[in-house]
Amino acid sequence: RIVYVNGDYLPESEAKVSVFDRGFLMADAVYEVTSVLGGKLVDFDGHTTRLRRSLSELDMPSPATDEDLLAIHRELVARNGIEDGMVYLQVTRGAPSERDFAYPDASVPPTLVLFTQAKPGLADSPLARTGMAVISIPDQRWARRDIKTVQLLYPSMGKMMAKAQGADDAWMIEDGVVTEGTSNNAYIVKGDTIVTRDLGPHILAGITRAAVLRFAAESQMKVEERPFTLDEALAADEAFITSATTFVMPVVRIDGRDLGAGRPGPVAIRLREIYIEESR
Ligand code: PDD
Repeated sequence: RIVYVNGDYLPESEAKVSVFDRGFLMADAVYEVTSVLGGKLVDFDGHTTRLRRSLSELDMPSPATDEDLLAIHRELVARNGIEDGMVYLQVTRGAPSERDFAYPDASVPPTLVLFTQAKPGLADSPLARTGMAVISIPDQRWARRDIKTVQLLYPSMGKMMAKAQGADDAWMIEDGVVTEGTSNNAYIVKGDTIVTRDLGPHILAGITRAAVLRFAAESQMKVEERPFTLDEALAADEAFITSATTFVMPVVRIDGRDLGAGRPGPVAIRLREIYIEESR
C-alpha cells in the first residue's frame, strides 16, 4: 500500500513519523475519514470544512490547501486502486525537539499523514440487513467532542465493552441522554418523527448526519434535533446510526431489548438507500 507522509508518497513500510511527534505523545492531532464509493470521494468538501474547523479550534497550523488535500486524496485512491473503501487523514502539531506541554513555535511544521483502506462491497454490508445491537455506557470522553481529535481510547474501550456483551457498538449516555455512538451519530424514530441529538460541544457534527438530515427533509420526513433519553430510545419504534464508514446503519437492539420487531425499520432502510444512491 502507498501512503502519504509530509509531501511524499511511499510504500507503507518506508513511511516514518518521529517519536517526538505530538500526535503520538499527546494525542495533539485531528483527523478525518472520507469514504470512497465506486472510486469517488463521498462528501469531500464537508470533511475538509470540518477539518479546517478542528484545526482552528486547536490553533493548529494548516498543513496544506484544500486543493492540495483533494489532489492527495485522489492520488492515493488512484495509486492504491480503491473502488470502495476510505481515505484516512491525520494532522498533528508536528515533532518539536523536546517533549513539552506548551505548543511548539511556528517553526515546527505540522505532520500530515494519509492512507487508504479498501473495503470491497462497502455499500452492501450484511449488518445493514440484520441491523446492529448496541449497549449503553457512560460517556466519559472530554467535553469538546465537536473537535475531531485522535483521543479515541475511551471510544475503543466502549467498542470492547460492546463486543464483550455480544453487541456491535456502544451508545454513550450523559445526564441520562444519549450523546452518540463510539464513532457515529445516534438516532431514534418514534411514530413518524426522527430524533437526533442537537449539535454542540457534546457531539461531533457528522458529515453523514448533515447529508441524511437534508435527505430526510427533502423526503418530507419529520426531524427533531434535541437530546433524547435512553428510556426514550428503549421505547422507540426503530433506531439507526450514521457515519462516513457505515452510512446509515439500522440499530435493532439496545441493552439486549429489541426495538419494535427487532428488524431494521423502514425509515433507516429508506434513508440508507437514499444516502447510498446520492453518494455514488
Ligand atoms: N467517526 N461521532 C463520532 C464520535 C465519530 O467518531 C464519527 C465519525 C461520527 C460521524 O461523523 P461522520 O458522519 O462525519 O463520519 C460521529 C469516523 C468514521 C471514525 O472515527 O472512523
